[in-house]
This record gives sequence, structure tokens and C-alpha cells, in this order.
Amino acid sequence: MARILIVDDDSALRESLGEALADLGHVAIPAADGAAALAALAREPVDAVVLDLRMPGMDGLEVLRRIRARPDSPPVAVLTAVPTSANTIEAMRLGAVDHLVKPVGRKDLAELIARMLPPASGKAETPRESEETGLIAISAPMREVLKTIGLLADSDATVLITGETGTGKEVAARAIHQFGRRSKKRFIAINCAAIPSELLESELFGHVRGAFTGAVANREGAFREAHHGTLLLDEIGDMSLSLQAKLLRVLETREIVPLGGQPEPIDVRIIAATNRDLAAAVRDGGFREDLFYRLSVVPLAIPPLRERLADIIPLAEHFLARASPETPKKRLAADAAARLLAYPWPGNVRELRNAMERVAILKRRPVITAEDLDFLSVPNDQKSEARDWLAGDLPTAMARLEAAMIRQALAACGGNRAEAARQLGIHRQLLYTKLRKLGLDVSEMITEEVAEAHINAEGSLPKNK
Ligand SMILES: Nc1ncnc2c1ncn2[C@@H]1O[C@H](COP(=O)(O)OP(=O)(O)OP(=O)(O)O)[C@@H](O)[C@H]1O
Ligand SMILES: [Mg+2]
Repeated sequence: MARILIVDDDSALRESLGEALADLGHVAIPAADGAAALAALAREPVDAVVLDLRMPGMDGLEVLRRIRARPDSPPVAVLTAVPTSANTIEAMRLGAVDHLVKPVGRKDLAELIARMLPPASGKAETPRESEETGLIAISAPMREVLKTIGLLADSDATVLITGETGTGKEVAARAIHQFGRRSKKRFIAINCAAIPSELLESELFGHVRGAFTGAVANREGAFREAHHGTLLLDEIGDMSLSLQAKLLRVLETREIVPLGGQPEPIDVRIIAATNRDLAAAVRDGGFREDLFYRLSVVPLAIPPLRERLADIIPLAEHFLARASPETPKKRLAADAAARLLAYPWPGNVRELRNAMERVAILKRRPVITAEDLDFLSVPNDQKSEARDWLAGDLPTAMARLEAAMIRQALAACGGNRAEAARQLGIHRQLLYTKLRKLGLDVSEMITEEVAEAHINAEGSLPKNK
């Protein structure tokens, strides 16, 4: 039996959570706002806290910060009806055990409490303002990415970000910098593939005047520019073997040697990114194994867009709004949304952004229809597709087929899950479970009610509430 503090300004929610906790054999201590929560903590023993973010008076993140600053801080889980990238990252950064979106079912609650009770090792962290990231992440897999960013932002650990082209690796790297304690210093990104390898060394480590023909002035180099800040080594998989050796030495000695100069100590957080399979490159001898392990202290994989359906429409609307100067902003018709959900997005978020910019410019009408998106043709060659289907073990192949059928059914009915379940011949509840398991949970905006409502009304998707 544990004593669990429930902090929420909604009394009905406090009650229902309290009942659910009582059923689990725990004691619920209700608090209607941050001040009451802090008073309760000072007054009586508390084993875990369930905390709402949006509350009048002291905001949930501030309450979290104060709880975590206590020497005996219990584990805290954050519940919110309105998850944003910033509050997810920030809550995890401030030491929350988890960040859940309301409503939270009884099973989720039981799992959450079970995870919290053997107290998570948490340390009090320094407060800091939250900022918005411009990072759109609604799907379950992307929310996991946000949580990881929050967990590692304040450390100096080297992060290796992997993901297909255009998935948002650079966006993720910037968020790590922005939310970490180096955010006041510079974030420098170097694209190792875009710079000829003979120039890359001086680009990274700098040179002194006269170090080689053409070196007419001193050059700082990216490492020194990023001193006390963060350096993103993008497309690290394209770095030559000789430069890899030099980079490894820098990582190990924390010193750089500018061309023609003397060793200098350097304090830089390194984030590396690649869309290549570095482990395979190590096997082929194209990438140093020791450097690979040195870089991937914390691996962060950004999933391809086709595996995070729930992000597609919010991203599309975001890019569309940004690219249409006129008001009211252009909107997506239901059939256009369905088309976007069905398309496999080989170029990922970048391709989606480009597509939305293209229609924003070329289409005068306020509502974008499926026809306007005809240029999105599926460029895959059927044969290799057939081979892919049959690759791997049976459970993997079955999961692939299941995901594809679900995606297609959802797309065919504009994201209406009830209808998709009917088409697939399964119960709605089972579809929800599968969506969650496959990381395909569609965002709130295309739930059945909304989808039906807007098809009837004006044929365009409503704005997210
Ligand atoms: N989650 C997101 N929210 C909003 N915009 C995003 C998101 N992910 C990516 N973008 C946008 O998509 C484009 C591509 O992102 P980014 O450059 O980070 O991808 P990348 O993975 O580094 O690609 P590459 O492998 O080609 O270097 C950028 O314009 C970026 O702003
Ligand atoms: Mg990139």
C-alpha cells in the first residue's frame, strides 16, 4: 500500500483517480493546486505524485520543479490533456518519471504506479525556462523520442542520432542543445558529407595562418566555435577514415590540434547524426569500430514518417499554414488527409514539407483536395517490395502485413477508426490496441466523430482543438 498524492484542479478527475488508486490498494491524497500539493508533501509521507500540468495558480512544471528540489522528492508522473513538445521534454528533463496524456485508463494507471513505486533514482535539477521547439511530435514513437531528449539534454553524453533522410535528426539535435545547460552557448552543425575531406579537417579543428598554401588567415574551426556549446557532426558516416582517427583522439583527449598549431583543451558536447547503417559500415571497414562505440553512448533513433501516422496531418497542417501567407489559412480536405496518410513518404518530413509548400503556392483554392496531391506517386518497384514483404521471420512479416493493412484501411476511410475496424473485420478495441502497439495511433483530430463531422460539413479537416 502506497500513499499517492494526486494534484489536479479538476475535482471529478481527482475523485476518479482516487477511486482507481483505492481499488489498487493505495491511499490517495488529493490536492487541488500546487500550493496544496507542496503543503501536503511538507505535512505527510508521500510515496509518489501524479501531477496535472495545466492548473490555475502555480503551473504544473513549476510544482514539479519544486517537488524535485526537495531532498526527499518522491517520483512524479505528469498527466496532461494538452501535450506539447516543450512540456514533454521539459517534464522529463525536470525529473518526471513519465509524461502521460489524459485520459489515462485504469490499466495505464496501474502500470504507472507500479513503475513509480520502486522509487526512480531522481536527482534535483536546476530550474530553467521552457521554450517552444517547433518540433511536432504527437505519435507514440515520437513522444518517446521527446522523452529521451528530455532525459539526456542536461548530460554531456555523446548522442548518435540515426534515421532515414528527412526524419528530423537535425531538429532533434537542436532540441537537445536548446533544452540542455549549454543552450546559452552556440550550436554548430557541420555536414561531413558536404565538405571535401581535405577541407573538413580545418573546418573542424581550424588552422593557423600559413599552415598550408592558401591559409591566409587563422581559422577558428567548428570545435572552437562550439566551445562550451554543442557540435553536430551531421552525416558522420561519410567522414574519411583518417579524419575518423583524428576525431576519436579529440573525443578521448578533449583536446584539438588546429592545423599548424598547438593542442588546445576543448569543452564541446558532440552529437553525431547519420542516415547510414553505421554498424554495417563498421563491418565493411568503412567506419572505425572504436569511434562507433565512442559516439553511440546514447543512441537515438528517429522513426521514419510512415511509422508515425499520427504526426502526418499535424505536420502537414503546420507546413501548410506556414507556407500560405493568406488568411484564412489553407485547409486539407478529408480525401487529401487520407492521401497523405496512405503515402509512404520515402523522403520523410522533408518531403512532406516540400509537398505542402508546393500546394500552398500552386493552389489558389482554400481547401486542398486529394487531386491536388496527385504528384505524390509511389516510386517503389514492385519486385523489391515483394521481397521486403517476405523478409525476416514470420512474426516480423506478419506485423508488417498487419501494419500495412491497418494503414490502408485508415487511409481509405479518412482516419475514421470505427470504419477502419469494420473494414478490417476486427473490433474497434482490438484496432486501438494494435495501433498503439504498432506506434500508429492516429491523432485526436482524426478520431471518428471529427472525421464524420467534417466530411458532412465542408469537406475539410477541422483545426486541432
Ligand atoms: N518533428 C518535426 N516537427 C517539425 N518540423 C520537422 C520535424 N521533423 C523534421 N522537420 C522539418 O523537416 C525538415 C527535415 O528535417 P531535418 O533536416 O532535421 O532532417 P534530417 O533527418 O536531418 O535529414 P537528412 O538526413 O536529410 O539530413 C526540416 O525542414 C525540419 O524543420
Ligand atoms: Mg540532417
